[in-house]
Amino acid sequence: MLEVLAVHSMRLASEDDVLSVRRRVREIAEMRKFDTFAIAAITTAASELGRNVLVHGHGGSATIEEVSDGLRTGIRIAFVDSGPGIPDIQRVLSGGYSTARSMGLGLSGSKRLVDVFVIESVVGEGTRVTVTKWKRF
Ligand SMILES: Nc1ncnc2c1ncn2[C@@H]1O[C@H](COP(=O)(O)OP(=O)(O)O)[C@@H](O)[C@H]1O
Ligand SMILES: [Mg+2]
Repeated sequence: MLEVLAVHSMRLASEDDVLSVRRRVREIAEMRKFDTFAIAAITTAASELGRNVLVHGHGGSATIEEVSDGLRTGIRIAFVDSGPGIPDIQRVLSGGYSTARSMGLGLSGSKRLVDVFVIESVVGEGTRVTVTKWKRF
């Protein structure tokens, strides 16, 4: 059973919002005493996925949850937008593909930085990316 200890809902409508989400995630990971590598990993993933919501999804939200499975504490973040959606999820996850002439490593990189990575996208409806990072014992 996953218990949700705290929820922080944040909007993603500007570059400043992306920075705020990044900062909030870092603060929570530090407060929960995640190790240095885990803090860097979830902060970087939050930054990339938050920026995707803004740039590709035309804005949306990030919901940050402090969770526990009874043994471990984790941070789960859902990035949600009502943008164009992603037609070929396999292609964007393989890395190096971008419709914005950028690196195309945001999704593939983020996937490697977290413990659980779930992407749901419907063309014309939007995209939801949910990531979880567990604190190591
Ligand atoms: N939230 C989103 N909504 C729609 N398309 C997205 C979203 N996130 C990512 N994509 C698509 O996946 C591609 C790869 O994303 P990413 O790996 O972050 O690279 P980049 O942002 O550098 O293009 C993007 O170029 C875009 O086409
Ligand atoms: Mg990106």
